[in-house]
Amino acid sequence: CGIVGYIGTQDSKEILLRGLEKLEYRGYDSAGIAVIGDNGVQLFKEKGRIAKLRDAVDYDVVAPAGIGHTRWATHGEPSKLNAHPHKSTSGRFTLVHNGVIENYSLLKNEYLQDVTFVSDTDTEVIVQLVEKFANEGLDVDAAFRKTVGLLHGSYGLALIDEKDPDTIFVAKNKSPLLVGLGDGFNVVASDAMAMLQVTDQYLELMDKEVVIVRRDNVTIETLEGEIMAREPYTALIDASDIEKGTYPHYMLKEVDEQPGVIRKIISEYQDANNELKIDEDILKAMNDADRLYIVACGTSYHAGLVGKQFIEQWAKVPVEVHVASEFSYNMPLLSEKPLFVFISQSGETADSRSVLVQVKEMGHKALTITNVQGSTLSREADYTLLLHAGPEIAVASTKAYTAQLAVLSILSAVTAKSKGIELGFDFLQELAIAANAIETLCDDKEEMEKIAREFLSTTRNAFFIGRAVDYYVGLEGSLKLKEISYIQAEGFAGGELKHGTIALIENGTPVIALATQAHVNLSIRGNVQEVAARGANPCIISMEGLQTEEDRYVLPAVHETLAPLVAVIPLQLIAYYAALHRDCDVDKPRNLAKSVTVE
Ligand code: G6P
Repeated sequence: CGIVGYIGTQDSKEILLRGLEKLEYRGYDSAGIAVIGDNGVQLFKEKGRIAKLRDAVDYDVVAPAGIGHTRWATHGEPSKLNAHPHKSTSGRFTLVHNGVIENYSLLKNEYLQDVTFVSDTDTEVIVQLVEKFANEGLDVDAAFRKTVGLLHGSYGLALIDEKDPDTIFVAKNKSPLLVGLGDGFNVVASDAMAMLQVTDQYLELMDKEVVIVRRDNVTIETLEGEIMAREPYTALIDASDIEKGTYPHYMLKEVDEQPGVIRKIISEYQDANNELKIDEDILKAMNDADRLYIVACGTSYHAGLVGKQFIEQWAKVPVEVHVASEFSYNMPLLSEKPLFVFISQSGETADSRSVLVQVKEMGHKALTITNVQGSTLSREADYTLLLHAGPEIAVASTKAYTAQLAVLSILSAVTAKSKGIELGFDFLQELAIAANAIETLCDDKEEMEKIAREFLSTTRNAFFIGRAVDYYVGLEGSLKLKEISYIQAEGFAGGELKHGTIALIENGTPVIALATQAHVNLSIRGNVQEVAARGANPCIISMEGLQTEEDRYVLPAVHETLAPLVAVIPLQLIAYYAALHRDCDVDKPRNLAKSVTVE
């Protein structure tokens, strides 16, 4: 979910709505704003996108302060009733919340037996508690602080009080939340991107801090009431980076940005002599570790699988790759000197963060590889490597994935060098060649569109097969297709399909096979024959030098280990066109959110 708030002299509605539009990547199943002015609090909410909320807002209402929310449902189905903001029974307090309150039913039983709840959300408990404590005689600041002190779980909160239109009460724990500073106004946002329209000056908030936001001042306090001094930082995001420009979708724009992103990464990780460099402390941590544990979710997890190949092949450090949501509850036996590597585009994913907190408590070192400087995972890890991919807006990740691969490859190559391991080829040159190959593929969209039409326009399901690292790229290709086209897709190790899943192959089932690795070229083609013999419609994507006549698409030749950076591009584009052919909402697929800040 995403939160915004504004308190100033202008009408707040448009600022809040624009802010929410920028936060739609965090969830978009319902949205709402509450504005406060001379006529009290006016509440507008709708199920569905911000565009629907816009239609529901009464533009005659003018109010110089307000809060807003865009939701990704956790407790309670997406509906107008469950949409935020939520009001207390008397209507005096109005609240927006991002996160999950773990002890909400306990709090309900202990403090709110007499209260009738109108929604199914954990959030309503918070606003009712504030009202209860205020009714008992506490001033609102104290009632809010007392409430926050009782909450277990994750939250970013913004609260307004009908009796005090000049204040927004803010608090956070685990969920990201920032206060932005302006001249005669201040704002609240889950992400600086939301309020770049009005300010680039932001205050970072720490867990369990309470903030009193007024037009002309902002006070940060601890739960105990101690006032904290804090300097703002400048958000270094170019507002034009978050616009679509002439592209029909952010996803297509972001696919096209990939060659530029790889080149930018190369220059960011080069020193004055054009030698690749990685921070000395990170290199030391890599060299001290006897095993790396990569922890991530979704696309970032798939990048981790490919990263394992780079690190093991080049830097000769053993690597395990784990899904974050499983790691905490099913922890593997750790080596003596582990180094944890968190891969996260947003740097905010709650599943990953919870592992980070856990391993830090155990005394281990952690490196975060993220696209967002200052994000929670970056702040809380010992070291950070940035992706330099620019804001990624489309929910389905594309350029962040290739950026993750590029940064992981650089980390591996530089670590190898520091150990005196010879790679036997000019890595930098090969990475630059991969960037050129990506560009060639981005220029061949018509062909990708044809492949999507030919293989995927009517199918119910699809398979992606590959061996060795192609298998991992296939997993990412199948995730892209599922996410945006809703075609049921599965990625399989080429040799494993026959051990069960081949039962699903029917006449015409599309099987997209990757063949970019010489040592498995013959065996993956054998697997293609197996499915073709059972009626499948195979689409072989191979690499120059390995191709045969039966191949549907041949990728430009790149260094074999870097092939995943290139092989993923047609898969991204095929998924994009398949989604278009099926009239799907490419940038905002159903049920998903780009940044999932709940576990
Ligand atoms: C969500 C998104 C995925 C993403 C995953 C991890 O589920 O929908 O696209 O891969 O989170 O996100 P992160 O920001 O940690 O890379």
